[in-house]
Amino acid sequence: MANSDHHIDTQLQHLGLSPEDNHGIPNPPIYRTSTILSSSMAQHRHEVPKPYDYGRIGTPTSAAFEQSVAALYEADDCISTPSGLSAISTALLSACDAGTHLLVPDSLYGSARRFVEKTLSKLGVEITFYPPRINAEITSLIQDNTSVIYIESPGSLTFELQDIRSIIEIARARNITTLCDNTWGTALHYPVLRYGIDIVIEAGTKYISGHSDTNLGIAAASGEHARNLRNTARNLGICAGPEDLYLGLRGLRTLRLRLEQSAANGLAVATAIKDHSLVNAMLHPAMADSPDNEIYLRDFSGPCGLFGVVIDGNIAQSAIDKAVEEMGIFRIGDSWGGYESLIKQAHLSGTMRHHATDLPDGHLLRLYTGLEHGSDLIADVQTMLDKLK
Ligand SMILES: Cc1ncc(COP(=O)(O)O)c(C=O)c1O
Repeated sequence: MANSDHHIDTQLQHLGLSPEDNHGIPNPPIYRTSTILSSSMAQHRHEVPKPYDYGRIGTPTSAAFEQSVAALYEADDCISTPSGLSAISTALLSACDAGTHLLVPDSLYGSARRFVEKTLSKLGVEITFYPPRINAEITSLIQDNTSVIYIESPGSLTFELQDIRSIIEIARARNITTLCDNTWGTALHYPVLRYGIDIVIEAGTKYISGHSDTNLGIAAASGEHARNLRNTARNLGICAGPEDLYLGLRGLRTLRLRLEQSAANGLAVATAIKDHSLVNAMLHPAMADSPDNEIYLRDFSGPCGLFGVVIDGNIAQSAIDKAVEEMGIFRIGDSWGGYESLIKQAHLSGTMRHHATDLPDGHLLRLYTGLEHGSDLIADVQTMLDKLK
């Protein structure tokens, strides 16, 4: 059996398997249950140990997935949730108390932004949005009651990286808890718990499950943070569905291959279009001319297939609509991390940002490159851009 001394790619193939408990069958079965019977009244009264107590609280299926992700992140524990957003909300609820102050990046994923603005604030948590590239200057926003700094790096839609090493140092010196949405970086490319983040969150909906057919979330941590996470999930009644947990665990087997193919396609497309006459800016931290490339090279061992491009603002919306609708491979859609390439347009106006972004003027498109052949993807995006000339 693989253990923590083995390369993470070897561990990915063996985590969560339990043939000795399942008639020699390697993959754990999908346990669908609410009831878990006790063998005696004494066990029912918890006087005798019972490995699994109630379906919502945990089954061998959830344990296999959660323990596997915890091992990948070198964490004591991991909770699974029915979506990435519920992993974010559960982790924030586990870390924030009424009367305390939370710092969140202005590039926060949109639905998480709604959660903190509309729900967390109602519970008496004070919230400040910080410019995502504030880095060490975050000290100027720290108050006496600041208890949590939330990080998402790169940020949603605008892809700014954060200098998490300096933010962690500042937070640790002040006993502030740090949370990081690591859906873009993944456990393979951005081991944020090793860098000192207290709680890592991922939308398992994306690369972990990887086939656009699953809604799933994870939050992993150690020590007291892990205990708070587990208790909060339990008190909220959070539990992921058994099929989704199974698909999440199965997704881990091919995570490396899918992630690298998707990431390589993303860089190939971004590199091919960066000098196009209609492109005003590429939003991709792994590109050499990104303002965040130094931090990227220091902290990440690879990118993923999600990035942005700002194109000429004088192009008529109707022309963009037509060119995008005529694309042969990229489909119009939210989400990412699956096998198929996706495109969407983003609008940052109104309530989406408190601070001005560093973006040049123009239309913002978000591209996700899936597992298709890179040259087909390049041709599809180039053809779309050429139609806008
Ligand atoms: C960075 C990031 N975090 C979290 C989520 C939420 O995941 P889910 O859709 O599973 O709730 C998303 C979804 O797009 C995301 O892009």
